[in-house]
Amino acid sequence: MHLTRAEEGTLAGEEGLSRQKAMELLVALGDIYGARRLIPVASAQVSGASFKTIGDAGISWLEEIAAEATVSVPAMVNPLGLDMRRWRSMGLTAEFHSKQARIVKAYDSMGLLPVYSCTPYLAGHRPRRGQHVAWAESSATVFANSVAGARTNREGGPSALAAAIIGKTAEYGLHLEENRVPRVLVKLKSVSEEHIPIAGYLTGKAAGNRIPMVAGLEMTDDQHKSFGAAVAATGAVSMYAFDRHGTESMRARRTYEERIVIDASDIRRCTEELSGDDDWDLVSIGCPHCSVRELKSMAAKLKGKKRKGEEDVWFCTSRKAYAACPEAVSVLRRFGKVLCDTCMVVAPIEEIYARTATNSGKAMVYLPTLGKQKASFRTTDQLLEAISR
Ligand code: F3S
Repeated sequence: MHLTRAEEGTLAGEEGLSRQKAMELLVALGDIYGARRLIPVASAQVSGASFKTIGDAGISWLEEIAAEATVSVPAMVNPLGLDMRRWRSMGLTAEFHSKQARIVKAYDSMGLLPVYSCTPYLAGHRPRRGQHVAWAESSATVFANSVAGARTNREGGPSALAAAIIGKTAEYGLHLEENRVPRVLVKLKSVSEEHIPIAGYLTGKAAGNRIPMVAGLEMTDDQHKSFGAAVAATGAVSMYAFDRHGTESMRARRTYEERIVIDASDIRRCTEELSGDDDWDLVSIGCPHCSVRELKSMAAKLKGKKRKGEEDVWFCTSRKAYAACPEAVSVLRRFGKVLCDTCMVVAPIEEIYARTATNSGKAMVYLPTLGKQKASFRTTDQLLEAISR
């Protein structure tokens, strides 16, 4: 990979050990993937922020880097293992909190923004069309590429942090126009709004590692958020194209390797397969994190009703969304915990619960694995009905 003289200097350690290590990582990735050069990024989003997922070894690594590194572009952090303010209400231990606090301190000292969310694009950090960014969270990268029209690979936590420190990333994969071409057409037929996460779940499975062109369904940003998260969870793909405003690649290519139809009967079958049973310890909504609009919509449906059932309820959201709709939050708090900074997958819920119901296609992939849960899919309305009367 070609490096400028300044980049060579960073690699040689002229700007300190942390920047040298970050540059080594970017160069190694660039060499593996055949990148020609490094390109500037407008922002970074770093995963690997929950103590549950990175453990003591991860803390030591972060603290070592944080001893002298600072970020050089706006950089946000993925959800943590707990809500930094309401962690006691989650039933977590002081020990877990103190480990999590060390991770927060390390990111903070490097200058990362305290946006502990998988939806930075809803918290004032939506990338512009055509902008190169280095984001790690799978649901956020798919939104950035597909809906915002920005360009990012699905970074790992360390490579996103390296990009944040250097302000650049290696130019390969989805940064290059030729790799953003849809290769499979997925036609969605008769998909109701409430089953969009299931449509995403099936689309990701069908697409595999091929960028799909998704046709037949107009979606709002919130619906893209749920759809794309599921696509990226069941498929190995960080981008889809769609009808509404499409991409330059979509216009350039009209032939597909395969044409797949997902219709109401596919959705019904998949929903039944994922439905599990009706006995839950936790109802968890907000994967990806709920938007302001979603919080308000759920609050409107619950207003005037009473709480029903014994299970715990989590509404997961970003701190910015939480602060933007205090009235909705106060309605929701009568039905459960409105948690910021964290989510049902990266929090250690396996220490508290065994059976979780969710409205998220992505969470249906990760709750049984990372969360060791018996997971049940229900639509948002079904979950709200289950907890209210
Ligand atoms: Fe976000 Fe956690 Fe889901 S990071 S996309 S809420 S698994």
